[in-house]
Amino acid sequence: MSEIRLENLHKAFDDFVAVRDANLTIAEGQFFVLLGPSGCGKTTTLRMIAGLEIPTSGRILLAGEDVTNRRAAARDIAFVFQLFALYPHMNVRRNLAFPLISQGVPRAEIRTRVAEVARLLRIEHLLALPVRGLTGGDRQRVALGRAIIRRPKAFLMDEPLGALDAEFRELMCEELRLLHDRVGATTVYVTHDQVEAMAMADVIAVMNQGEVLQAGPPSEVYNRPATLFVADFIGSPAMNLLPAMGPLAPGADHARVSGAEIAIPRLRDGLAHEEAVLGARPEHITLSDNGLLRGHVFGVEYTGVRQIVVVDTPAGRVRVRSPNTVRVSAGETVGLEFSKDALMLFDRRSERALRSEQVQGAGNG
Ligand SMILES: Nc1ncnc2c1ncn2[C@@H]1O[C@H](COP(=O)(O)OP(=O)(O)O)[C@@H](O)[C@H]1O
Ligand SMILES: [Mg+2]
Repeated sequence: MSEIRLENLHKAFDDFVAVRDANLTIAEGQFFVLLGPSGCGKTTTLRMIAGLEIPTSGRILLAGEDVTNRRAAARDIAFVFQLFALYPHMNVRRNLAFPLISQGVPRAEIRTRVAEVARLLRIEHLLALPVRGLTGGDRQRVALGRAIIRRPKAFLMDEPLGALDAEFRELMCEELRLLHDRVGATTVYVTHDQVEAMAMADVIAVMNQGEVLQAGPPSEVYNRPATLFVADFIGSPAMNLLPAMGPLAPGADHARVSGAEIAIPRLRDGLAHEEAVLGARPEHITLSDNGLLRGHVFGVEYTGVRQIVVVDTPAGRVRVRSPNTVRVSAGETVGLEFSKDALMLFDRRSERALRSEQVQGAGNG
């Protein structure tokens, strides 16, 4: 059992609240990603889990045990600060063995565990070589090996791939995820990169300004963002967010966007004031002569088999993902048709999603 649970976890530095009443459950074996922009409180959250920062209030439970006041060394968690922190002059075997030597583990046991980890990471052929001469990928594997050899209850990783170039990062993403699937240890992984988060996570928690806005599987965070911030932060290009006219009664099945009546999933929540927002992913809009909302093509960005068509409408700029077989050019007038079932509505004032009848638990519920 290595579930990690945060209960009303709060951290203030003087008057400044870095983490506000976070409630999260990270299940045994999960690859859990904390995602958010720089300064939103990710590292502070991770450091509290590790025992490197004392919470102002709230509790941390590790495998059901309250560890809030336990020091870092007594938590049985491996914090992978930076995957390149190795001893370059020592060979791979010694780098791997080092954490166990300093724990006073008997020699025979060390030998067995080094062999085991080397097999797992496919670096058996490197054991006798000094770390200094290894490629970046091999070094990263050795560093991971050094973290897992202690058999910690959980791994904490703070932007471990941050310093790598894009191509190598993609490769390491896959490696990390594969390794996690083989070892199965609970992992909390911090990143500001939504593509990385979407690719790796079992569950993503999106943070902004110290607050956890939503936690769920990538598909849920992508398809049913709970707030405008999440809608805008996840996905590239981001969800189109168009001003719509409230008020909306519970049961409403249309929203008015610049005079166009757009069919939406029947609402469960109502909205008492005028400021609504319609959210539509670029792939949920098609260019169509029947489209009620019309605009002028501003430009087209080719992205392989798909293209992003940028359309200026009276409701603002809209990005449409369409097959590149659809021929359009700048200046053309086009109609936009929306895929009803995929649309979201938000309250501009509270920034929260309105729930619809068809989707249980969508939005802020
Ligand atoms: N020791 C500290 N003293 C004062 N403010 C801090 C301290 N550590 C972090 N902060 C502030 O808390 C906020 C969150 O920081 P951090 O958790 O590092 O964010 P992230 O990792 O998401 O970029 C930031 O505004 C940062 O300046
Ligand atoms: Mg950070």
